[in-house]
Amino acid sequence: MTERKVALVTAAAGAGIGAAISKRLAADGFDVVVTDAHERRSAQLAEALTEQHGRDFTSLVLDVTDPAAIEIAMDRVVSERGRLDVLVNNAGWSKIEPVAEMSLETWQRCIDVDLTGTFLGLRYALPHMIKAGSGSIVNISSIAAYETSTEHGAAYSAAKAGVLALTRVAAAENGKHGVRVNAITPGLIYNDFLRRIYPDEFFSGYAEKRSLVGRIGQPDDIANLTSFLVSDQAGYVTGEVYGISGGVYPHG
Ligand SMILES: NC(=O)c1ccc[n+]([C@@H]2O[C@H](COP(=O)([O-])OP(=O)(O)OC[C@H]3O[C@@H](n4cnc5c(N)ncnc54)[C@H](O)[C@@H]3O)[C@@H](O)[C@H]2O)c1
Repeated sequence: MTERKVALVTAAAGAGIGAAISKRLAADGFDVVVTDAHERRSAQLAEALTEQHGRDFTSLVLDVTDPAAIEIAMDRVVSERGRLDVLVNNAGWSKIEPVAEMSLETWQRCIDVDLTGTFLGLRYALPHMIKAGSGSIVNISSIAAYETSTEHGAAYSAAKAGVLALTRVAAAENGKHGVRVNAITPGLIYNDFLRRIYPDEFFSGYAEKRSLVGRIGQPDDIANLTSFLVSDQAGYVTGEVYGISGGVYPHG
């Protein structure tokens, strides 16, 4: 068994939250397994972490809509490293279509990636964590889970709300096994990819008019909270949902 705690992050090779969490957990001392549907970018991030920290990081190609691939990935991590301490279910997908016009394909894809993908991560990580008697899982949801807004689309909102229910029941079932399960609901978190989707006014309007702290969220904001939630300092925290939205959508 490797001495360092092992963390697996899904959708870790993009320009946003997953990569920031991977970098932060690596800096925290975790042996991070970088997984993503995109093979080349996953390998690049693992190489960059290896270079930065002077120890080996590996990557795995993992599409969270592929149940067999998820099971194999979790089993492989445990057989190679002897442990799986942390799982971050970060993969998400959305397409905004009004309910009255939504294709079944859009609905199904959202449910598959955001909700079923999170379920599958839990499904195949939990048996290993239960056996070890410890573990921590963080599911990345969204403020879309609560909103009465047209901004994110009902498929995404429904899937992200489902993630919260999944989180709470998984926490209830597994506290006795030493496994904690929590969720984060980010508001707008900047990444360069979002520039292609939203006009410039959206970002300036958000920072100046909606955010209570005068800025848009950054991936590191989510990485900081994840770092805390998976740490021993959060030993009394489970079944919780933490919002980070610059005060745009506080709840509780
Ligand atoms: N960015 C935001 O404003 C925001 C706000 C609230 C919630 N979220 C949620 O945070 C999470 C991360 O979002 P992000 O915008 O930071 O993107 P990100 O950069 O973390 O994720 C993009 C990556 O996801 C990978 N990916 C896409 N589909 C995949 C799949 N089926 N399996 C595995 N990998 C896949 C892509 O290859 C890409 O590398 C998502 O769940 C998203 O819904 C984001």
